[in-house]
Amino acid sequence: MAVKFYKPENQVPLEMHKVRMVQKIALLPIEERLKKIQEAGNNTFLLQNRDIYLDMLTDSGVNAMTDLQMAASMRADDSYAGSETFNRVKAAVKEVFGTDNVLPAHQGRACENILASALVKPGQTTLMNFHFTTTKAHITRVGGTVEELIAEKGLLPQSDDPFKGDFDIPKLKRTIEERGAENIAFVRVEAGTNLIGGQPVSLENMLAVTDVCHDNNIVSILDASLLQDNIYFMKTREARCKFMEIKEIYHLLADHFDIIYFSARKLGFAKGGIITSKNPKYTKMMMEYVPLYEGFLTYGGIDVRTMEAMAQGLYESLDMEYINQGPEFINYLANELHEYGVPVILPAGGLGCHLDAGAFVPDMPHNKYPAGAVAAALYIAGGIRGMERGTLSEQRNPDGSEPYAELELVRLAVPRRVYTLSQLKYTADRVKWLWDNRNLIGGLNWVEEPSVLRFFFGRLKEEDYWQEKLAEKFRKDFGDSL
Ligand SMILES: Cc1ncc(COP(=O)(O)O)c(C=O)c1O
Repeated sequence: MAVKFYKPENQVPLEMHKVRMVQKIALLPIEERLKKIQEAGNNTFLLQNRDIYLDMLTDSGVNAMTDLQMAASMRADDSYAGSETFNRVKAAVKEVFGTDNVLPAHQGRACENILASALVKPGQTTLMNFHFTTTKAHITRVGGTVEELIAEKGLLPQSDDPFKGDFDIPKLKRTIEERGAENIAFVRVEAGTNLIGGQPVSLENMLAVTDVCHDNNIVSILDASLLQDNIYFMKTREARCKFMEIKEIYHLLADHFDIIYFSARKLGFAKGGIITSKNPKYTKMMMEYVPLYEGFLTYGGIDVRTMEAMAQGLYESLDMEYINQGPEFINYLANELHEYGVPVILPAGGLGCHLDAGAFVPDMPHNKYPAGAVAAALYIAGGIRGMERGTLSEQRNPDGSEPYAELELVRLAVPRRVYTLSQLKYTADRVKWLWDNRNLIGGLNWVEEPSVLRFFFGRLKEEDYWQEKLAEKFRKDFGDSL
């Protein structure tokens, strides 16, 4: 139950935990920040952590662990086979999902590699509400394709729809009819749809997808990496879920989906990845890939201490007082920005607050990378590292043409239980300054463009010295402040 403040104007999200370990971070002067982003090729992935004040690149593998997770990691059993640690992971997966068949892999994308290798034949397509970068890369690597069937509301930057990650069910049925079920390797539902702002999918919609799959004999897969945030939204936004136990929701999903996989860098507040299913048929189809690519079936490339932390973290993902922290802090940041008139994706989703970078620089063409430019500008403005989630994160088509992203976003991920409310207030303040000075933001051009996952390693440079002008304006407005 939410804690109500006596004075409504004081109302903020209230943590039900205390912090007992801290880590120092630094805020460099703006002249240094300008230099650092240019040395990093205007790619926030290439910045060094020591040069960053608030690292909002990702929510993946950067969440604060609990005392019980740290304690659990000390009792790890590192025997190669028959490890007790693996038994404890299996028990945690069984408790959360009710499933018995568990394959470990070193992280979410490793699960995707296994799923694509085992299930996708060249020429087949896969249907999903929305792609994720690594998911698509693995499917296309084995000769498959990806079709997105997100409901139209999902691509509206601002709306009050509570479940913008929903599938368009009539379109799903039509597409299956047109393509033929035999040409569809699987249907994948991504909980907490990452690339469109961490937007949740309703329970009703997830179950409708699995019904369609069942009717057409197509494998249904749930990417549960962001399910914990998604379940928070189901509990708070979907009438049917309000009185359900969190565990009941997880179990219901596992009853309906053929396969569930997740990155434990998010779900489980640790690291690693898991593929699980009620039906041993699916794990049998995939198990040979685990020793081939990952490690033995009892550890899958994950360090055993991490597996123990994951197991404990999975139990904790059933606790509303833990899983509410991320979405409520993100909601706070998004609302502050919205009140300042800064365009953000609304309603706020999980994993982070998403700036509508397209609205910062409405006249900038996609091939000057508006979201990349805003991400670079925000690092200059505040030492805050966000992530480009727009055209730069897309992959060129085989003919070299560039698919333009539907939304040009900068994601300000909020690592769970890591940053304080004052740090989020600082973020809102610097973003507001950037919004007020958005006319100074210019485009970016490639210096080095890798052919695969270019957003990870690509280097770009500014056009027309706009970054120097932005830094000068900062000095003028903020005097000698950091
Ligand atoms: C929805 C989703 N699926 C899969 C992945 C890949 O997981 P990992 O980063 O552990 O490889 C991510 C990571 O961000 C994700 O958000």
